[in-house]
Amino acid sequence: MEAGKPHAVCIPLPAQGHINPILLFAKILHFHGFHITFIHTEFNYHRLIQSRGLDSLRGSPDFRFETITDGLPSTNMRGIQDLPDLCSTLPVHGLRSFRELIIKLNARSDVPPVTCIISDGVMSFTLEVAEEFGIPEMVLFTPSACGMLGYLHFEDLKERGYFPLKDESELNNGYLETEIDWIPAMKGVRLKDMPTFIRTTNPDDVMFNYNLQSVNNARKAAAVILNTFDDFEHHVLDAIKTKLPKLYTVGPLSMLQRQLCPTNLDSIGSNLWKEDTQCLGWLDRWKPKSVVYVNYGSLITVTPQHLREFAWGLADTNYPFLWVIRPDIVDGGGERILSKEFTAAISDRGLLVGWCPQERVLSHPSVGGFLTHCGWNSTMESVSEGVPLICWPFFAEQQMNCFYSCTKWGIGMEIDSDIKREKVESLVRELMEGMKGQGLRQNAIDWKKKAEIATSPDGSSYINFNKIVTQLKQGMP
Ligand code: UDX
Repeated sequence: MEAGKPHAVCIPLPAQGHINPILLFAKILHFHGFHITFIHTEFNYHRLIQSRGLDSLRGSPDFRFETITDGLPSTNMRGIQDLPDLCSTLPVHGLRSFRELIIKLNARSDVPPVTCIISDGVMSFTLEVAEEFGIPEMVLFTPSACGMLGYLHFEDLKERGYFPLKDESELNNGYLETEIDWIPAMKGVRLKDMPTFIRTTNPDDVMFNYNLQSVNNARKAAAVILNTFDDFEHHVLDAIKTKLPKLYTVGPLSMLQRQLCPTNLDSIGSNLWKEDTQCLGWLDRWKPKSVVYVNYGSLITVTPQHLREFAWGLADTNYPFLWVIRPDIVDGGGERILSKEFTAAISDRGLLVGWCPQERVLSHPSVGGFLTHCGWNSTMESVSEGVPLICWPFFAEQQMNCFYSCTKWGIGMEIDSDIKREKVESLVRELMEGMKGQGLRQNAIDWKKKAEIATSPDGSSYINFNKIVTQLKQGMP
């Protein structure tokens, strides 16, 4: 053990879209000389062994993994429907387990004492432990800045009577179209663009209150970190700074990591599903920018009817497509719902896989467009490769990411939530060959260049990361 080495404990919410950016952040901190303890839940730790093998969790002497309990029974599959349960058990059982872990780490002689905590913003119960042991903690919020600004206005939405809904009919009677004109930096935003946890008649809704509490707790952190870059969201960032002045942008994190330390700890991965890498060879067969890539991220579920509409819409475009259908995306298994006629119609023009190396797919020259659920990592990764979007947001702040992608950043087109095959076909054609699609692609390429500037030496994200490192090192006892 190297004496005096800073030791950062990094802890994400146990979901793919949270683990990935915090792991990237941890790898960059490690590159800057930190000893890292990265925390998974016991459940995810075992899932990672199944999907990637134990080697991916061996780390190195100064990058180690530990686990905490999430408090759910081991039989629970931790799907989207279980998020409220997870958000109820983590602040109790996760907190207890986290506290015990910090005590254990500080009692060990083979690792340096814990000098800082980098916690997911939605694991903010960790701040209680940080305060108890006098350890500085920064929180990394994994969604967009615009999404976070939405969460920061949950209290106002409650006070102004938008939350909870008066009755269920407000979900369908046009009420969600109401413009919210009193939030700075969000001109044109409607209730339906706000994080979806407001869409309930239950004032005690777990997800609404969990997210509200998380952004409120952020005020207690030494700093707040966001996976975005200044140019991309600067109005929104200015608005957030009025509430949370100690704010650092370090995104796109995957680009910053590639810029700083591309091979550092590259055997350590975080995919909870087994990756199909053969799709990269399949992509090699197609012309530049000719393939449509379709992926709905790690959490959402799709109805069998919607899956069929996507399937036939994609088949009817005549473009090659790579479609990720997670094994758990539809109850009963997604691929089985698709008929033999569909398989025959697409022949070798469509490839269906369960999970892919998304960043490598997006950087492949043959990929020309991305039909996405607008998860923030997917959005940032697509911007990092200059790939334009068709947006099919599902929940959380994905609606806000969609709104900004389509109306402010000019990189996407929204598709109706009640998906129809004709619409899939026409929007894919527009994206791949239409005038509008060309404009979106050019904008995406322009944002990619700005992201490259932000993550290169003298760029805002690069400089901010160095400031974080300095602050964390100074905060050491
Ligand atoms: C989402 C969003 O993170 C977030 O904005 C919201 O608050 C909650 O849910 P997720 O569905 O996981 O999470 O989407 P996304 O943010 O896009 O993260 C998915 C991650 O998994 C990305 O880093 C992506 O590259 C990776 N991935 C996804 C793969 O590597 N392969 C796949 O096949 C699918």
